[in-house]
Amino acid sequence: MSAPTNIACVKYWGKRSIALNTPINSSVSVTLDQADLKAVTTVTVSKTFKKDRLWLNGVEEDVTKSKRFIACVTGVKNLATEKLDSSGEVLVDKSEWKDYGVHVSSMNTFPTAAGLASSAAGYAALVACLAEVFGAIETYPGELSTIARQGSGSACRSLYGGFVAWRMGSDNDTGADSLAEQVFDENHWPKLKAIILVVSDEKKDTSSTEGMSTSVSTSKLLGYRAKEVVEGRMRGIEKAYGEKDFESFGMITMQDSNQFHATCLDTYPPIFYMNDISKSIIKLIHTYNKWKGKIAAAYTFDAGPNAVIYHLEEEGEELLALMLMYFPDDKFLGSLVGSEYVNNEEEWRKAKAWVLDEELLRMCDAKGRSRGVGGDVKKIYVTRSGPGPIVLSDEHSLLDKETGENC
Ligand code: DP6
Repeated sequence: MSAPTNIACVKYWGKRSIALNTPINSSVSVTLDQADLKAVTTVTVSKTFKKDRLWLNGVEEDVTKSKRFIACVTGVKNLATEKLDSSGEVLVDKSEWKDYGVHVSSMNTFPTAAGLASSAAGYAALVACLAEVFGAIETYPGELSTIARQGSGSACRSLYGGFVAWRMGSDNDTGADSLAEQVFDENHWPKLKAIILVVSDEKKDTSSTEGMSTSVSTSKLLGYRAKEVVEGRMRGIEKAYGEKDFESFGMITMQDSNQFHATCLDTYPPIFYMNDISKSIIKLIHTYNKWKGKIAAAYTFDAGPNAVIYHLEEEGEELLALMLMYFPDDKFLGSLVGSEYVNNEEEWRKAKAWVLDEELLRMCDAKGRSRGVGGDVKKIYVTRSGPGPIVLSDEHSLLDKETGENC
């Protein structure tokens, strides 16, 4: 099974209930294409497995005490149905699944825990894969997303493709209505694209969970944002996405990212997720928009310094060319070829051939970033919106068929 990552345009930041992992506000994101970024997960179950085991990028992690992992396994087992063979004979009865141990192996095709929503893709893949193996059936739409939410909040949105809202819900006893809902599918706005600049591929020093908890207890701005700002932005951005109105979509996306990082700064002690490179990307995007005379590109940053820049197809080559001009690879002025630096060789080639406008370059230079200084960006992904979890064929299995161990 593979599952996508997602990047929020209206951010989730703050928990209403830590035990249920419900949020203080709704959020909405774009699910990114698994052709470019994904988590791949294999699950094998057996009565002979003595305990549940997990391998993450090839390394075994102890999950026997992991509340998140256990919540996902138990949650999906509760929705399990009986397993039949081809003639309709019962192979495993519903009541027997609880005696089955679970082995999981999961890999990301992108940096883990660097603010690229790797836990979102990972937990979505886990829940989708468990659901497949146990034949789990939802008793209401979005129920599986309530389980993925308990793994990692943002994971609930990765169970669907396209433009996905996480409705905060109001049930504080079970969290059953705090679930993800697809607002528009991945085919609704094919011209919407994204460029991801990986500024750091290292693990962040303040995890989202820890950061949120300090923000909720110390930032008044966060409380104000959840109460007064988010619902209006949710309505505005869903309308903009529906009408394919990039300017409104981009404006809300940038303002919400900025406000999220402002709440981090308002947290005591403050949390810094963006660094000077992130800030120079912000300046470059605003300069580009000024030169264009409209919002043609919109940045957003999660809990890390990496930038995601949404834009429309027509600006793709020019924007990538601009990024390659100010953020070339570390071998100085683009000696890394194609997919070594930019995941898509063809897009890289087209951008390299693009001649940037002199006035645009003059305006960007004036913002203080020098051209041709390599190494600040480690990798660039060009991508788009894509579908939810996908079932892969057996050849992609990460677990050995005989032993059920990582292979
Ligand atoms: C900044 O979903 O990683 O990316 O629920 O504690 O696992 P936990 O947090 P997580 O937080 C993501 C925060 C964010 C914003 C977003 O994706 O909406």
